[in-house]
Amino acid sequence: MVDREAFYRNVVYSLRNGVITLWRDGSIADVNDAAYRILGLDADPGHIGRSFHDVLGNDHDLVDVLALAFTDAALPNRAELRLRSSGKVIGFTLCRIVDRDGTMSGAALLFKDLTRVDQLEERERLRDRLAALGEMAAAIAHEVKNPLASIQIMAGLLKRQLPDSPDAHELLTDIIHEAKMANRIVVDVLDFVRPISLEVDPVSVRVVLDDAVAAARRHPKAGHTTIVTDCATDLPDLDADQLQLRQVFTNLLINAMEALVGGGHIWITASYATVDASPEPSEPPEYVGYVTIEVADDGPGVPVDVTDQLFSPFFTTKPSGSGLGLAIVRKIIDAHDGQIEVTPRAGGGATFRVRLPVSHHVEAVRVAGGDRAAGGNHV
Ligand SMILES: Nc1ncnc2c1ncn2[C@@H]1O[C@H](COP(=O)(O)OP(=O)(O)OP(=O)(O)O)[C@@H](O)[C@H]1O
Ligand SMILES: [Mg+2]
Repeated sequence: MVDREAFYRNVVYSLRNGVITLWRDGSIADVNDAAYRILGLDADPGHIGRSFHDVLGNDHDLVDVLALAFTDAALPNRAELRLRSSGKVIGFTLCRIVDRDGTMSGAALLFKDLTRVDQLEERERLRDRLAALGEMAAAIAHEVKNPLASIQIMAGLLKRQLPDSPDAHELLTDIIHEAKMANRIVVDVLDFVRPISLEVDPVSVRVVLDDAVAAARRHPKAGHTTIVTDCATDLPDLDADQLQLRQVFTNLLINAMEALVGGGHIWITASYATVDASPEPSEPPEYVGYVTIEVADDGPGVPVDVTDQLFSPFFTTKPSGSGLGLAIVRKIIDAHDGQIEVTPRAGGGATFRVRLPVSHHVEAVRVAGGDRAAGGNHV
């Protein structure tokens, strides 16, 4: 004879969605493994029979949603919620469990972790925005480039025609300097908006970091900053574009040096780890190798209120900055399917953490800008 009760219990436990069921009095009837995993709680048989307020108290919003089942309110179907405890986004449906005679005997919450979907959508939206912004910026930059070059050439000619006028010379030198600065911004914009294409080869992280340090040291603002590099011995080569990665780390190093005004320390560390990258926590694990590279400095750090804007194009706090350095950095890392974040460094300063997959599927061309470090001259 078929044990229907056992069968239904197995259905609930085998579901890839999280399921929480409650009795009419608000005590927990069951929580499946997927629910525990998504909520980041340890499975505990002691939860059964306890009030959902007690067990899920860390997530007030979730408790509020569950409480709706015990009111007359219409219940949410396919709604979304961000869990305060972990920042995860869940998509959920709440229903009342009703007996054959219409009496409510409990409630069930079915939910799914949407965090990764949410991040991918956000990345798509950003790419679309940058593509639109890029087209406009490219058109303007292109039109401005020629008149700027003419200004530089004509000011140079005029300088030669007025050898005996020091005042005019000084003014013309300023004009040429300003035109050069404006030209650099134009070149940066064009770099930024050019569609990115990667030349992927096996790349040694150590070599990229050493090249970036050498390039940053040649920068006019390099000063006497102490740079310490510490790479783990088990670092595998990355499938990556060597020149573009060098540009990423050169830009990060120059920013750190500018923040340190010629002094201070920069610590570069690189480590390797495998991470479960399966699309859903309920799927079998898919281990992917990542290299994490941190560039930390003991400068003034990044004020918390500007952290979100740091990677946006044209955000700068420097009088002569274009604000494109980190935007370019993020675009190159995006193209490598990597991630970048900035956090305060314990002890003062900023830490930029870059995570790059060891191998990735290359898309030949990605819209919304980018350049080859050799041709581009941001660094
Ligand atoms: N290591 C750091 N410490 C403190 N602030 C930083 C650091 N790196 C970046 N920033 C902040 O982020 C802003 C944006 O950096 P980004 O590299 O995009 O542009 P920029 O350096 O201002 O100009 P550009 O790179 O075009 O010369 C900087 O103006 C600075 O305020
Ligand atoms: Mg910069």
